[in-house]
Amino acid sequence: RNLWVLVVGRSPKEHRIGIPEFKYVANMHGDETVGRELLLHLIDHLVTSDGKDPEITNLINNTRIHIMPSMNPDGFEAVKKPDCYYSIGRENYNQYDLNRNFPDAFEYNNVSRQPETEAVMKWLNTETFVLSANLHGGALVASYPFDNGVQATGALYSRSLTPDDDVFQYLAHTYASRNPNMKKGDECKSKMNFPNGVTNGYSWYPLQGGMQDYNYIWAQCFEITLELSCCKYPREEKLPSFWNNNKASLIEYMKQVHLGVKGQVFDQNGNPLPHVIVEVQDRKHICPYRTNKYGEYYLLLLPGSYIINVTVPGHEPYLTKVIIPEKSQNFSALKKDILLPFQGQLDSIPASNPSCPMIPLYRNLPSHSAATKPSLFLFLVTLLHIFFKQSKM
Ligand SMILES: *[C@@H]1O[C@H](CO)[C@@H](O)[C@H](O)[C@H]1NC(C)=O
Ligand SMILES: *[C@@H]1O[C@H](CO)[C@@H](O)[C@H](O)[C@H]1NC(C)=O
Ligand SMILES: *[C@@H]1O[C@H](CO)[C@@H](O)[C@H](O)[C@H]1NC(C)=O
Ligand SMILES: *[C@@H]1O[C@H](CO)[C@@H](O)[C@H](O)[C@H]1NC(C)=O
Ligand SMILES: [Zn+2]
Repeated sequence: RNLWVLVVGRSPKEHRIGIPEFKYVANMHGDETVGRELLLHLIDHLVTSDGKDPEITNLINNTRIHIMPSMNPDGFEAVKKPDCYYSIGRENYNQYDLNRNFPDAFEYNNVSRQPETEAVMKWLNTETFVLSANLHGGALVASYPFDNGVQATGALYSRSLTPDDDVFQYLAHTYASRNPNMKKGDECKSKMNFPNGVTNGYSWYPLQGGMQDYNYIWAQCFEITLELSCCKYPREEKLPSFWNNNKASLIEYMKQVHLGVKGQVFDQNGNPLPHVIVEVQDRKHICPYRTNKYGEYYLLLLPGSYIINVTVPGHEPYLTKVIIPEKSQNFSALKKDILLPFQGQLDSIPASNPSCPMIPLYRNLPSHSAATKPSLFLFLVTLLHIFFKQSKM
């Protein structure tokens, strides 16, 4: 079956400079159906509120929104009867769990890559996605990267954090705090308690080959995982209450694509420079974030003062300071074009975006190579992980 995406925006068929790309993906586990229904409702809400509701109109005027209600239509079709728990239909037709099927930055993930995964990986290369969420069921929590980890990302302390942890925590809270049940943190009886309805993915349970880590590392796209229902496949009559409880969160989360700073990088002759590295000092990504083919960059940042570092082959890094104001930017990140004081030497910049190798990039980080004896603490943490792993979301 095809994977369908609907795009909502003023210019839905193509990217416009300055308009960030947002996406929602649901139902990659075919038996987790609430997200799939919510995204259909969301599409309806966006297109029928356009021109009537100023918030939605502003959002559509300034954002390109991609919505994939089902990433696993075969799994969905395979479900025999609605079931709250782990069931047939989680995996795709070939019996692969798609949320374990992506390249992994922490260890080799030698599974056979599935057509659905390949399709999503290709899709990620066609747009400069900035922000995303991946909708699941079986728990009630907003979970942020990383899902896998090593010592260098905090695994000894039973967590795995990105250099953008402040932004990810903010994003997860933005969603959870507007969902009256999720924010309580303990609504799914007999399952784990999540303070404020938020967790780091690895702290909950480590997993390999997940989609959110892939988005952040290889697609320059911040993605979180939203677990939206204690019951994976609830009865139809529950659907209106799921929409009522998630509507404000779904909309507010999309608006966060306008956090931080965006702009184009130009050389001294005014030519936009594609594929050059634009990173914030002290939050370097393991695969450096680069401008797209129009020379654009988008950096999700909370209010504060930052140094942006632009690296063009053959030149000293160019540093420039940016202050992200407290005041909301009204459906636009702070706009800051960067004019470099030299000519771009376009021939030295690769014609296509040099992609990072899809191998365990974190394996050789210095702090990871230091051998460690497993402590009793680590042993207990591992036991806990094994325990929680038994209820897969
Ligand atoms: C949104 O865009 C439409 C069409 O370009 C325009 O007529 C309208 O004034 C804009 N609305 C807002 C709130 O910016
Ligand atoms: C996975 O693939 C890598 C690279 O091809 C290889 O070095 C490694 O030994 C493989 N691991 C397993 C468990 O098959
Ligand atoms: C800027 O980034 C480059 C790599 O792209 C790095 O080598 C350099 O140390 C960075 N400079 C600063 C001051 O952070
Ligand atoms: C936000 O931008 C819209 C046009 O896109 C404008 O109509 C509105 O007045 C602005 N609001 C603020 C608070 O600046
Ligand atoms: Zn799931």
